[in-house]
Amino acid sequence: MKKLFIGTTIFFAITTTSLAYILLFTGTEMVKNEKDTRITVKYAPDLRDFVLNEMRNYLEVISEINEGLAEDNPEKIFRAASKQGQASIKETPARLLKLSPIPCKKMGFAGHYMFQAIADSVKTNYNPKTTIKQLAELTNNCIVCHRTYKIES
Ligand code: HEC
Repeated sequence: MKKLFIGTTIFFAITTTSLAYILLFTGTEMVKNEKDTRITVKYAPDLRDFVLNEMRNYLEVISEINEGLAEDNPEKIFRAASKQGQASIKETPARLLKLSPIPCKKMGFAGHYMFQAIADSVKTNYNPKTTIKQLAELTNNCIVCHRTYKIES
């Protein structure tokens, strides 16, 4: 009887330890995607924050442009798109440009030019179809870059 008790205790101790080990230490292994072939770009933590913050702003601006389209409000589209237009390139830290691979930089600039193109075209000749087409081009640029790069600090 005592032997059985010791055996059961050992069995549970091993099971619990194994489960604790899996939960605590193998989590990152489990989510690691073997098929992830993206190129890693290394930035200092503050640069990474800057870039990811910029990304979240892009998404907000795209949402505002869509709202402008739904409300048939070219002024709203212009205001939103201008926030990420050509002028905003000046706010890019020089360090970021230095650390980014050339195709990555090119796609980064292309995004700002496309936001600017949306702003310019609603200002000069508002046509929702043109804006939608430009938005599709813009988001395609986001997609290509996301498929290619990931950030680590
Ligand atoms: C120059 C390349 C590039 C372009 C262009 C780009 N992104 Fe990103 N984006 C990235 C990278 C790299 C990450 C981080 C991905 C990772 O590390 O897994 C990212 C992350 C994000 C995130 C997550 C932010 C967070 O807080 O984690 C959002 C949202 C995003 N991008 C939106 C966009 C949108 C919308 C566009 C287009 C208007 C866009 N991005 C264009 C490279 C780019």
